[in-house]
Amino acid sequence: MSLITDTHNRRADTDAPLIPILAERWSPRGYDATAVVDEAALTTVLEAARWSPSASNVQPARFIVARRGSKSFATIHGGLMGFNQAWADSASVLIANVAELPVDAETKLVTESPWTRYDVGQAVAHLSIQAQHEGLHTHQLGGFDGVALSEAFGLAANQVIVTITTLGVLGDASTLSPALLEREIAPRTRKPLTELLLVND
Ligand SMILES: Cc1cc2nc3c(=O)[nH]c(=O)nc-3n(C[C@H](O)[C@H](O)[C@H](O)COP(=O)(O)O)c2cc1C
Repeated sequence: MSLITDTHNRRADTDAPLIPILAERWSPRGYDATAVVDEAALTTVLEAARWSPSASNVQPARFIVARRGSKSFATIHGGLMGFNQAWADSASVLIANVAELPVDAETKLVTESPWTRYDVGQAVAHLSIQAQHEGLHTHQLGGFDGVALSEAFGLAANQVIVTITTLGVLGDASTLSPALLEREIAPRTRKPLTELLLVND
């Protein structure tokens, strides 16, 4: 039996109708390693992050944007955990999503606000949906060495890398290793909605 390796339609099988962009978004590992993202599209994707809501409109999200071939791209790629390193260099852009934590005005100590990282996540969600609209794909990563990357980019004490986003053009999944291909074409699943609704009065 031959595997179906065309990953261009991995639309979610939803129980209620979603707008197409949401249903069609998924996180690939098989990007086109030669594709270059149009600069106007990249600016639009980042602009979507800029216009995401944030608590008190503090706008704590910062981004390190690294195009393939740049020194910054090599630095981010070098800071990924092995499993992610194996495929993420095929993305056109690697983006480090940074939370700028509040600094106490008197003590000058870095503090934690419950909303800062939440706001960064929301900015990345907006970015990823805009990317999907531009015909691009994103895959967010938690598997990276945050300490090493913070040092490499000389981040301030209140700037924390929360996640990395890979951004690029969908490629030919059949070029992936067997282990990665298996994940790439695995059925997309979610918990039932009823399990998520603690109260649905
Ligand atoms: C915060 C976060 C961290 C993630 N970390 C990784 C990672 O390190 N490596 C990876 O391959 N995928 C990672 N993912 C991707 C998730 O596994 C993926 O979004 C999830 O399985 C749902 O699949 P979908 O995005 O295709 O719907 C991460 C996603 C998020 C939101």
